[in-house]
Amino acid sequence: MRDETLAIHGGYTADSTRAVAVPIYQTVAHDFTDADHAGKVFDLEVPGFHYNRINNPTVDVLEQRLAALEGGVAGMALSSGAAAVSTSVLNLLGAGDNFVSAPQLYGATYTYFAHVLPKLGIEVRFPPDDQADSIEALIDDRTKAVFCETVGNPAGNVIDLERVAEVAHRHGVPLIVDNTVPTPLLLKPIRHGADVVIHSLTKFIGGHGTTMGGMIIDGGTFPWAEHPERFPMMNEPELAFHGVRYTTQFPDAPYITRCRTVGLRNTGSCLSPFNAFLHLQGLESLAVRLVRHEANARIVADYLAHDARIAWVSFLGFPDNPYHELARRYLGERCPSIITFGVRGGYDAGIAVFNRVQLFKRLVNMGDAKSLIAHPASTTHRQLTPSDLALVGVTPDMVRLSIGLEHPDDLIEDLDQALSSQDLGHAGPDVLKGPDPAFR
Ligand SMILES: Cc1ncc(COP(=O)(O)O)c(C=O)c1O
Repeated sequence: MRDETLAIHGGYTADSTRAVAVPIYQTVAHDFTDADHAGKVFDLEVPGFHYNRINNPTVDVLEQRLAALEGGVAGMALSSGAAAVSTSVLNLLGAGDNFVSAPQLYGATYTYFAHVLPKLGIEVRFPPDDQADSIEALIDDRTKAVFCETVGNPAGNVIDLERVAEVAHRHGVPLIVDNTVPTPLLLKPIRHGADVVIHSLTKFIGGHGTTMGGMIIDGGTFPWAEHPERFPMMNEPELAFHGVRYTTQFPDAPYITRCRTVGLRNTGSCLSPFNAFLHLQGLESLAVRLVRHEANARIVADYLAHDARIAWVSFLGFPDNPYHELARRYLGERCPSIITFGVRGGYDAGIAVFNRVQLFKRLVNMGDAKSLIAHPASTTHRQLTPSDLALVGVTPDMVRLSIGLEHPDDLIEDLDQALSSQDLGHAGPDVLKGPDPAFR
């Protein structure tokens, strides 16, 4: 099936009720037929559901659907994208280990890598840029993974996945990518060498700003059994799960099996069945929404690029974008509906525009049907030092737009009135009050 069809039908076969919508299995546990059956389910000898911190039939459909869209062998849903990020790396690393990450990251991912993991003895190495050679220079025999965002949020950089995957694999290391910004409809990283794909479902996939969620997808591509010394957790008996050996007992998907038996089981960051249902609703319309998101974004980006009040605009759809060639190679003619720009007048002018918009919602999410405006340096990335900001690709004046599904003329009119206000460099208390609630 093609993507549009998979997004609607993938992973679901109706039971005897013939329900067309995926039912919400709002239950904590499942009744075993007898002790023998219970034992076999616990031993992972037979497929089945037992306790919903580990798995659930509604969540299972979402996992299968996204794994199919990404071209992976299996998926595991989590309560948020942040849970997917942390579980994906903790599945491979312990004290004394390291991984290399491209520095252009979502703010909370960066602070987790730079400031939380080191306290657990896990070193995250950041090269000065996102180039494969720079990443390779930091890999050593305690490196357990290479990590990157396929399209960085909010930096808008596009990783040369095939080169980075080649470098990682040459050193016997898997490539883990966060594919939140493009979604599998615009970019399929496993086809380009990624071994593990993670998502914040909270963004375009849920699509309506209502529901948190995360996903890890195992490409089934990495040869864990060939690297027993680097990856003992995949090859030696798992003490945390009665001695299971993932590579021999689950040779098709050892990585995701361990994510579930150790990561999800112990951290408990499971997705609720109702939230899985909402993400399934989002997936059904993802393909058509992305077309409209992108069309609107092209119109708004074009408007900004021709406005004398704007200092710079970064949009992957522009041929002069430094990442345009990589975007063409990996995303085809498509691009995500994320635009960043700076206003003449710098930081203060950017804050003033942020304060003065009336239709755009001032918040830190993206991928909503509603258009959103964010000022990363003062919100998602505000904990970063000036040098960290430069490393992750956030300038102090950067304003980020996530373009929604409204009429583009209304979006342009809103930006125009926000930019038209005099004295952009000195946003006073009046603009901090925000627009008339009736208008919003
Ligand atoms: C690229 C990326 N990855 C992960 C996350 C974290 O996802 P969540 O907010 O669902 O925890 C975000 C959130 O903005 C993100 O933009």
